[in-house]
Amino acid sequence: MDSPSEWLEPIVRVQSLSDTGSQTIPNRYIKPLSQRPSFNIQSDNLNIPIIDLYELINGDTTSQKAIMYQISIACHDWGFFQIVNHGISHELVDGAREMWREFFHQPMEVKQDYANAPKTYEGYGSRLGYQKGAVLDWSDYFFLHYLPSNLKNHNKWPLQPPSLSYVTEEYSNEIVRLGKVLLSVFSTNLGLQEDHLQHAFGGDDIGACLRVNFYPKCPQPDLTLGLSSHSDPGGMTFLLSDEHVSGLQVRKADEWITVKPERHAIIVNIGDQIQVLTNGIYKSVEHRVIVNPDKERVSLAYFFNPKSNVLIKPVAELVTSTKPALYQPMTFDEYRLFIRTKGPQGKSQVESLKSPR
Ligand code: OGA
Ligand code: NI
Repeated sequence: MDSPSEWLEPIVRVQSLSDTGSQTIPNRYIKPLSQRPSFNIQSDNLNIPIIDLYELINGDTTSQKAIMYQISIACHDWGFFQIVNHGISHELVDGAREMWREFFHQPMEVKQDYANAPKTYEGYGSRLGYQKGAVLDWSDYFFLHYLPSNLKNHNKWPLQPPSLSYVTEEYSNEIVRLGKVLLSVFSTNLGLQEDHLQHAFGGDDIGACLRVNFYPKCPQPDLTLGLSSHSDPGGMTFLLSDEHVSGLQVRKADEWITVKPERHAIIVNIGDQIQVLTNGIYKSVEHRVIVNPDKERVSLAYFFNPKSNVLIKPVAELVTSTKPALYQPMTFDEYRLFIRTKGPQGKSQVESLKSPR
């Protein structure tokens, strides 16, 4: 079914629910028992790897190699890492996050001007997936396109606060630069030509879009999730987390590890398209978000994606007789219809691409 032009059910802003001060959450947000957050004490001291990029950007060949090796291990073992000294100024990182926090603190009428629809998802939204009756997540968001530039539409970006647009533009530019650097590091680490993955992503025509997530305070955080378990459908994601409030949990074997955000760090994770391109050498890892009874949380998830109409399939150099192609080719445009229809569903989508044997 094509995406409908409007939502099939009335949209309720989670922030408005939170602002009523009610001590209970509506049934629609209550997850089945198996999906509710478990607070695992054992893994509390585990964290995803933290990688300092200073030497990658400024060092000599030997020190660059050492950092590339750390990135390689993190991609293999975790699919998630935090980068510090990434070259994006602290002012810009803080500015972008706080500007967007201000956006969500404006009166509802202002935000409603940007209300989104399931055709493109651009704008102010409160659900992912349009199927009627779905259990919902405890979050609102704002979604916008940056690349390709013909999809960027400043008229759909918030006018207030006044410098939001400018700061978002600057931040986006830095993220795209970083995305290209990491694609070439991944390519080299995989034994490919430096520009291999960039080329497979569609060369200069890559996609980049931003989802700003707003997780309001929640009176019953043990019954719901801010964002259900999913892997990111795109290429890779750059997540700027709230620096005071944690909430992101990453799956490691059968446990959920709560990420402790490092100051000014950016969290990087592998998406489904890189899992497919690398024939499963790098995996897109499941993650989810838990919410908090006394603190709201803001995060900026930047999705760095292949061009929407190129076929994404395992890179020929990574396919061997002992490791045949694990996934069937598909364009990213086709691929993302799934999450846009059904909402976050763990890793069921990339699994469904597995070639029949
Ligand atoms: C996402 C995501 C995590 C977070 O937007 O895809 O996983 O901490 N966000 O907000
Ligand atoms: Ni995600």
